[in-house]
Amino acid sequence: MLDVPDETEPELPHGVGPWPGGASEWPDDPRLDRDLLAHGDRRNVVDRYRYWRMEAIVADLDQRRHPFHVAIENWQHDLNIGSIVRSANAFLAAEVHIIGRRRWNKRGAMVTDRYQHVRHHDDIAAFATWASGEGLPILAIDNVEGSQPLPAADLPRQCVLLFGQEGPGLSAEALAAASGTIEIAQYGSTRSINAAAAAAVVMYEWCRRWA
Ligand SMILES: C[S@@+](CC[C@H](N)C(=O)[O-])C[C@H]1O[C@@H](n2cnc3c(N)ncnc32)[C@H](O)[C@@H]1O
Repeated sequence: MLDVPDETEPELPHGVGPWPGGASEWPDDPRLDRDLLAHGDRRNVVDRYRYWRMEAIVADLDQRRHPFHVAIENWQHDLNIGSIVRSANAFLAAEVHIIGRRRWNKRGAMVTDRYQHVRHHDDIAAFATWASGEGLPILAIDNVEGSQPLPAADLPRQCVLLFGQEGPGLSAEALAAASGTIEIAQYGSTRSINAAAAAAVVMYEWCRRWA
């Protein structure tokens, strides 16, 4: 996993207060965090994980992660990357892959990266070597010449969905490393939707078919 700066989880209006009663009345469950039991849990987690230690949540997610991966090129600190990590967490991707610069803009992740495995690759060649070693086909997601429309496209159960950045989109190297290219149909005047929106659409479609 990549280094994650020590950010404080945002305090949200929802959540739960301290566990009622004294410490002697708290549930005897090693997954629970005594500090959260004492002070309440306002983290950005679904209710099922209230009061759970972060490591216990990650261990539980690891038991049921989906076998698709998500990758994004990172040459310009694209703000979309954080949002993609957050969606990858929501749709329970196996792992997120950041290709290019090691540092990425975490703002949109809303600290979901703490619960998500994130791996770095120096360049497309290193990423493609990793994917080939894992037997995972790389599917480029972009609206370029020759792309297949998403509804008709093959989305294997085990695959890596590769997204490009605002502006340039996927690099020529990334498109060449992919076994197929998939596009999301659009109907308006803009050339594209943003990468995080595209990632959410395709992850949702993967889950619709397989989850
Ligand atoms: C803002 S787009 C830029 C590139 C785009 N090809 C263009 O011509 O402007 C950034 C990334 O979002 C994703 N994306 C945006 N719109 C898409 C669409 N309609 N279909 C598939 N991917 C899309 C792709 O991963 C793309 O690389």
